[in-house]
This record gives sequence, structure tokens and C-alpha cells, in this order.
Amino acid sequence: MEFILVDPQARPHVALIQLNRPKELNALNLQLMGELRDTLKQLDDDEQVRAIIIAGNERAFAAGADIKQMAGKTAIDMLNVDQFSTWDQIRKTKKPIIAAVSGFALGGGCELAMTCDMIVASETATFGQPEIKIGVMPGAGGTQRLTRAIGKAKAMEMVLTGKFMSAAEAEKHGLINRVVPVELYLEEAFRLAADVAQMSPVAARLAKEAVNRSFETQLDEGLHFERKNFYLCFASDDQKEGMAAFVEKRKPDFKGR
Ligand code: CAA
Repeated sequence: MEFILVDPQARPHVALIQLNRPKELNALNLQLMGELRDTLKQLDDDEQVRAIIIAGNERAFAAGADIKQMAGKTAIDMLNVDQFSTWDQIRKTKKPIIAAVSGFALGGGCELAMTCDMIVASETATFGQPEIKIGVMPGAGGTQRLTRAIGKAKAMEMVLTGKFMSAAEAEKHGLINRVVPVELYLEEAFRLAADVAQMSPVAARLAKEAVNRSFETQLDEGLHFERKNFYLCFASDDQKEGMAAFVEKRKPDFKGR
């Protein structure tokens, strides 16, 4: 792969993916997104992996979709390329994904971070949907996910003016999980991933699915979905192990079965 670095066991049960187009501020061209999709699929299928981190570098998580690649396209070109089907596949990743964001997370970069399940940011992280400044609008979920995360007023301001949001503001408005000094952001993402990786992978998968379902359904249907996943946990060895360990006052040893 040309634009992605992968370490499937960067830490026990934790994989690290690094976006690696530094000169272009990790602009998300079609090849990079294809590589990311394929990598996530491989890691999803790898039993050793229980949590995944996606990071950029200190200067940029990603400065958006590749403007140079899109500049000359017609609507029909865009329709035929269908770049967002790649994003749909990424969204289907079953394992928990943490975005470790430093520097620019703009346009598709902000949308990619929001596609992840949690976001750890450095103090230098800057979030934005500046597509309006180049005559378009967000196309990879920005209008939907940003609005759900920070509410209509703030989302509308960002989408209509292209103004950036600092990491501190993003934390205040619930877009991200936490902000730490730049030298610690990757370590903090690893810490969070390690916490997740200690849990039952079966329960984590079912729980992620249920939280995500809350964005798609009415409360009644969501509660029904949650209950079914809760019952399904009782089909796992991990449920037996987790509850036995509690009773026996020891740490559980989850196997993902
Ligand atoms: N696409 C292609 N190339 C990009 C890029 C992008 N989104 N963002 C940065 N680059 C390139 C620049 O063209 C430049 O390349 P050259 O050296 O060859 O000229 C290099 O990365 C470094 O960028 P700058 O010189 O511009 O760096 P800066 O520090 O002066 O500015 C920045 C940084 C504010 C992030 C600025 O680069 C910028 O505004 N980038 C575009 C941000 C943007 O509009 N993103 C939305 C894209 S559309 C989208 O994402 C649609 C969608 O919803 C999927």
C-alpha cells in the first residue's frame, strides 16, 4: 500500500493505521480511501485485533477529500466513481475505531474522524467543514454527523461559513472524547484502545452496533434492538467468563467466543 501504514499489533490486541500522504496533508484521494477500506476489512477479520486506531501525523489528520482529484469532474463522473460506497463499507467495520486527531481534520478528514467511534485530539487539532469555500458542501456525512454531534446551530455555522472549530471547543460541544497535549495524543488513543481491548470483543461488537442503531431508529425500535443484542451476549463464553470472574473476584479472561 502506498498511502497507509498498518501495524496490526501496535499494542496487544490494538491495531494502528496511519494515513501517510504527508506532503498533501493526508488529502483523501480515491486510492488512499480504497486502501483504508481494505485494511479495515482485514483488521475486522483478524481475531487478534480488538480495537483499531486511525491517525494522521502531528500536522494533519486529513485536510479533506483530494480537491485536485475532484476539480475537473462532472456530476456524472462523480456518480460513476461513486467514492462514497467506500465510505459506506468503512462505516460497516464491526470493531471499535478510535480517531487520533492532531492538526487539520477538515472536510472529509473531519467526516472520517466522525465516522470513527471515538475521537482523541491533540490541543492543535482543528475541525471544520470548509467545503462551502470551494463551492460545494460536505458529501461524506458532515451535515448529518456534525449536526447530531454538536447540534443544529453550531453545525449550521460551520457548514455555511467554513469556520474551523478548535479542539477545546470540539470537546466542549461533544464532538470529541478528550483533548491532550500534542505529544500525548497518540498515547492517549492507545490508552483508550487498550481499555476497549480488555473487554469482551463479542459484547463490544454488539454494543457498538446498538449505539450506532440509535442514530437510525425511533426509541422503541432502538430499545428492541438493544434488548436482542443484550440477550445475544448470553450466547457467548465471554458472558459466562465475565460474570464468573466477578463472582470469584478475579479479572476476566475474554476470548471473543
Ligand atoms: N486536497 C488536495 N490537496 C490538498 C488538500 C486537499 N483537500 N489540502 C491540502 N492540500 C495540499 C495543498 O494543495 C498543498 O500542496 P502543494 O504543496 O502541492 O501546493 C499541500 O497540501 C499543503 O497545503 P497548504 O500549502 O495549503 O498548507 P497551509 O498550511 O497553507 O494550509 C489548509 C492548510 C488550511 C488545510 C489548506 O491546505 C486547505 O484549506 N486545504 C483544503 C481544505 C478543504 O477545503 N477540505 C475540504 C475538501 S472537499 C471534501 O472534503 C468533500 C467531502 O465532503 C468528501
